[in-house]
Amino acid sequence: MKIKIENTNPIKKKTEMLCGFVLENSDKILGFNKINSKITDSVKQSLRDNNGVFGRVTVIPTNNKITAKRILLAGIGRKEKISNDTIRFVSGKIAQKASELKLKEFTIITPPSFLTENISSTSQITEGCKMTLNKFDKFKSKKECSVPDLSILVSDSKKIAKNIKNSEIISEGVIFARNISNLPPNECTPTTLANFAKMISKKNKMKCIVFSRNELYKKGFGGIIAVGQGSKNDPKLIVMEYHGGKQNEKPIVLVGKAVTFDTGGISLKPGEKMDEMKFDKCGGCTVLGIMKALSELKLPVNVIGVIPSVENMPSGESYRPGDIIKLYNGKTAEILNTDAEGRLILADALAYGEKRYSPKVIIDFATLTGACIVALGNNMAAIVSNDEKLKQKIKESSKRTTEEIWELPLNDDYMDMIKSDVADMKNIGIGRAAGTITAAAFLRNAIEKTPWVHIDIAGVAWTQGATKSKPYNPKGATGFGVRLILDYLQKI
Ligand code: BES
Ligand code: MG
Ligand code: ZN
Repeated sequence: MKIKIENTNPIKKKTEMLCGFVLENSDKILGFNKINSKITDSVKQSLRDNNGVFGRVTVIPTNNKITAKRILLAGIGRKEKISNDTIRFVSGKIAQKASELKLKEFTIITPPSFLTENISSTSQITEGCKMTLNKFDKFKSKKECSVPDLSILVSDSKKIAKNIKNSEIISEGVIFARNISNLPPNECTPTTLANFAKMISKKNKMKCIVFSRNELYKKGFGGIIAVGQGSKNDPKLIVMEYHGGKQNEKPIVLVGKAVTFDTGGISLKPGEKMDEMKFDKCGGCTVLGIMKALSELKLPVNVIGVIPSVENMPSGESYRPGDIIKLYNGKTAEILNTDAEGRLILADALAYGEKRYSPKVIIDFATLTGACIVALGNNMAAIVSNDEKLKQKIKESSKRTTEEIWELPLNDDYMDMIKSDVADMKNIGIGRAAGTITAAAFLRNAIEKTPWVHIDIAGVAWTQGATKSKPYNPKGATGFGVRLILDYLQKI
């Protein structure tokens, strides 16, 4: 979709649909002061019907009273309840309507800035519309969805141009992460992901290193090798380097779990919904989306993306319950369930990221535990961290982006739960208790001293397209984490 900004008078704007925001119980379209003189009775009646109810959209014909063909009123609810997500969410509703009506283009009038102090409304409009209108139709013979273009009416277009360009890059990062996350497991193996990483690295001048199975074996990546050994699709460790900061400045390391399909291995999962385990690569895809966007934004930071990628399959060559393996950092792990594979490949990647790059911060993303969904459901990711300051920063970014997170604790009692009788650790806790935390405890053992935050995205990485869900998160992968971390990187 093409987005342009204009400071045209809304009354003179030639468009198939002129859309404006309306506060609850208000009889005005925000930012459209002059409409009152031109307004017809039907608009007034529709304003009363719409009443500014949050998320409600009302479309009315203009019967050539103004140059726009239709007016869309979009309710944003009560003024006190306006959040950093209101305009993004409601813009998504508008975009859905424009697509439903099969329009070629539509126009949104920017609301006054007092409503959205933290995150500019033009950013939210851009993100809301772009993220809503991307449909994953790569495997449809007939493409159903035509994507309309958008004009955003503002009072000062010069100041806002850069802002919108940035929001477009961020949304495209999210969409990129979604599109590869949505790929089916027969079309997306660790090698495919490595090729995507090489492609964006080449385009955006990043360094990309992909470790082959043989190299991983020789260098002692025992977790990645063990989990990957049951599949005919070789495991990979993908590393991307972006240098936008000072040469001697320590980087930020981002690690993402990319299990292209998680059958559970010998500890096989039940058949029902096993197809959803194609989304077990979402953490890695989030890192790819962030690397793409941050290199296009040319952010003045140094960032390393580390993506361990495997397929977890049962076969005669698979690793087994009972095996004891040695991780990259030399610690040994007793395997008691081959379905707890994410922590094994992440432990290798975290230890490598810390040892090789001496980063100032490590952040990891993973669809790590079903327990996370039990604890927090499908709207919040869990975070576990060893550093107060870093945690605070991530929480602030979460507030601004409305990619929601909730903290879980991690102390020595939990560390004790993964102690093994025969090895340094075991790869599961005690029964089902605190499953998300015991997984994080395993990761904690891979980090020596660096501030670290782990983000379990099991519940938020994809949606079933429930009716109450955010319009800009359509069915399928959400790209959760891309906006969150790009905000963090911009505020460092
Ligand atoms: N990828 C799964 C976690 C998962 C399950 C994410 C469902 C999203 C939806 C992970 O590899 C896994 O299987 N974890 C096990 C761990 C257990 C064996 C300790 C789980 O959560 O059941
Ligand atoms: Mg598993
Ligand atoms: Zn998994």
